[in-house]
Amino acid sequence: MTEPLLQTRAICKSFGALQASKDVTLDLRPGEIHALIGPNGAGKSTLIAQISGALSPDSGQVIFDGRDVTALSTTARARAGLGRTFQISALPMEFTVLQNVVLGALGQRGRAFRFFGNVMRDKALLARAEDALEQVGLAEFRSFVTAELSHGQRRQLEVAVALTLSPKAFLMDEP
Ligand SMILES: Nc1ncnc2c1ncn2[C@@H]1O[C@H](COP(=O)(O)OP(=O)(O)OP(=O)(O)O)[C@@H](O)[C@H]1O
Ligand SMILES: [Mg+2]
Repeated sequence: MTEPLLQTRAICKSFGALQASKDVTLDLRPGEIHALIGPNGAGKSTLIAQISGALSPDSGQVIFDGRDVTALSTTARARAGLGRTFQISALPMEFTVLQNVVLGALGQRGRAFRFFGNVMRDKALLARAEDALEQVGLAEFRSFVTAELSHGQRRQLEVAVALTLSPKAFLMDEP
């Protein structure tokens, strides 16, 4: 059997007296799709946060692509190929669809900051962004302001932003 791309080993996380994750062990192999289901407050977002690095587990490990990433930041994990989308969208609403995706593509390159005008003329970034928009079916909305999109389209846009990282594994919180 192929080696898992992503593993959690006995992850535990408590908030005071509330244990949100208890010994969560899972394997994700290349090409697999898993859904995590549970009622409100079951601990789904908390688990995703620990896998992506936004929260540290109290104990246990996250192994990604052959290495222990438990101590790595969200940025380092994203650069290593762990993509994610959020339960509550964090996209700047005043930017156009294309601008939002280009910003995502910029993060993949690891540039700290460049003026937006220059970024939007960068052919390689634009190509990567257009490709991601094509993949999620939003190409024709590229010039729309993000606020004009429906809720569902914003979720698609989040996926496009994450795809610019060419993730090896992809976590979606309530897509
Ligand atoms: N930062 C925090 N501090 C304290 N308690 C928290 C924190 N984050 C989550 N919790 C609690 O941990 C439990 C799990 O929450 P979590 O958001 O992971 O659930 P969920 O399965 O994603 O729920 P939903 O379906 O509503 O998104 C809940 O009881 C929640 O109130
Ligand atoms: Mg949640």
